[in-house]
Amino acid sequence: MNIQALLSDKVSQAMTAAGAPADSEAQVRQSAKAQFGDYQANGIMSVAKKLGMPPRQVAEKVVELLDLSGIASKVEIAGPGFINIFLDRGFVAANADSALIDARLGISPVEPQTIVIDYSAPNVAKEMHVGHIRSTIIGDAAVRTNELLGHKVIRANHVGDWGTQFGMLIAYLEKVQNEHAGDMNLADLEEFYRAAKKNYDEDEEFAARARSYVVKLQGGDEYCRKMWRKLVDVTMAQNQLTYNRLNVTLTQDDVMGESLYNDMLPGIVSDLQDKGLAVDSEGAVVVYLDEYKNKDGDPMGVIIRKKDGGYLYTTTDIACAKYRYETLGADRVLYYIDSRQHQHLMQAWTIARKAGYVPDSVALEHHMFGMMLGKDGKPFKTRSGGTVKLSDLLDEAIERARKLITEKNPDLKDAEELEKLVNAVGIGAIKYADLSKSRTTDYIFDWDNMLAFEGNTAPYMQYAYTRVASIFKRAGIDLNSLTQPIVISEDREAALATRLLQFEEVLTVVAREGTPHTMCAYLYDVAGLFSSFYEHCPILNAEDETSRNSRLKLALLTQRTLKTGLDTLGIETVERM
Ligand code: ARG
Repeated sequence: MNIQALLSDKVSQAMTAAGAPADSEAQVRQSAKAQFGDYQANGIMSVAKKLGMPPRQVAEKVVELLDLSGIASKVEIAGPGFINIFLDRGFVAANADSALIDARLGISPVEPQTIVIDYSAPNVAKEMHVGHIRSTIIGDAAVRTNELLGHKVIRANHVGDWGTQFGMLIAYLEKVQNEHAGDMNLADLEEFYRAAKKNYDEDEEFAARARSYVVKLQGGDEYCRKMWRKLVDVTMAQNQLTYNRLNVTLTQDDVMGESLYNDMLPGIVSDLQDKGLAVDSEGAVVVYLDEYKNKDGDPMGVIIRKKDGGYLYTTTDIACAKYRYETLGADRVLYYIDSRQHQHLMQAWTIARKAGYVPDSVALEHHMFGMMLGKDGKPFKTRSGGTVKLSDLLDEAIERARKLITEKNPDLKDAEELEKLVNAVGIGAIKYADLSKSRTTDYIFDWDNMLAFEGNTAPYMQYAYTRVASIFKRAGIDLNSLTQPIVISEDREAALATRLLQFEEVLTVVAREGTPHTMCAYLYDVAGLFSSFYEHCPILNAEDETSRNSRLKLALLTQRTLKTGLDTLGIETVERM
């Protein structure tokens, strides 16, 4: 059920009937205040302007022609020409009932699109660090949301698995294997990378071998290929553990690393040359873009092949966009990459569009995000100033959650249940803290805030969920016994039920904009509305059977909405805490 879409349709019809031009928009929004009704149509003013008529007069005419019988109980004109719509309680109750009996909570079917989502994208032979957490978490929420709506989502983990560094990494892997008779320990990838680099810088013979391996690897040499594979596999096996801990849906099958596009690169460069888009410049191949100016105001040159014949990150992203459209059949491609790579992406896509690799009908969207900062407002670092490994961060989250939970809940003795709870809260806290902030800006990472039981945090939301869930457990209610329809008589029931019916509207926004924080804000709001409903409308001790049945159903719909909503965020719920 998408009330906003339904009302938009109705108001648009009335506007057309009132003589509004075809491109007029109803601009139906959820009202910010109860006195303005549940929804507001704000499109009248611009229609009046186009028609050269006083807005109030247009509003009156539209309201006269607006048929909301069975949907609204009152329609009012306010201010210069806003239309305030008050939903009918019978309509709200009936739709809440329908949502409750539907496994998908009444979410309307969509015209399914193929959506490729590029996220996480760690680098081979490096450990995942805090810089990868936002892409991983926000991208996964976008995946889950679009899937719930019914779209076909292809997860694309654009792993950094190609480049000249692999010569040095293969040479070092070989050395380690020789020295340790085959048993390789890559547990500490950071250390491995550092040692490889050190050998490369200090040992001329090693460096020469490394350079020859790069050439061989690119030429498809079997031995180098095998060694490379090993590096990729070990890294991704380790990253998989992190994905599992994070409750992120990525698997090894979703790896579509940079190497995947390698074979396409020579063809792309020659094609761009043939099309006159790329030109030779001092031995390199360059595309000059009028859209981007360099310091001197001249078109910016984007190198797509270096003088030594090597290709670049941009060349790969041109090929990658082409592949996602041509081979994967994408209707939309979403990239969860930090904002510092914006210009890079825009250049790659401008070139891909000019070359006709991706038609305008296919959206390439950069859903960028800011950096994670420490409490001091500087990039988040370890005490000694190093990058924070993701696994260390998760360990700390678990330890902090354990402390919090055992203090709050000393009687929880069941080890398995405790572990599950600690995990849900610890990991949930980190994820929710990130997801609940608008992604476009930097954000301050703060343990105390994210683990607080008050405010828009994971522990608060998880606790709110258990409170609703416990009602049923406590009263031993058989859900099948709730056969009577929902009846809404109190304002607080109406407010809660209406908000619950807006779930799909929020999903649609998150799916379109890639903004999970709007889902967090919504769920937080639902939890608050439930609290005040719970406080003022007795459920188990309701005055009569009809109210009791009805309120139990509202509680159940709240429980399911919170659970499904938290699920789209990849936040786990527990039944008690
Ligand atoms: N591996 C890159 C990094 O760690 C991110 C890749 C993002 N995806 C892309 N299509 N460029 O910065």
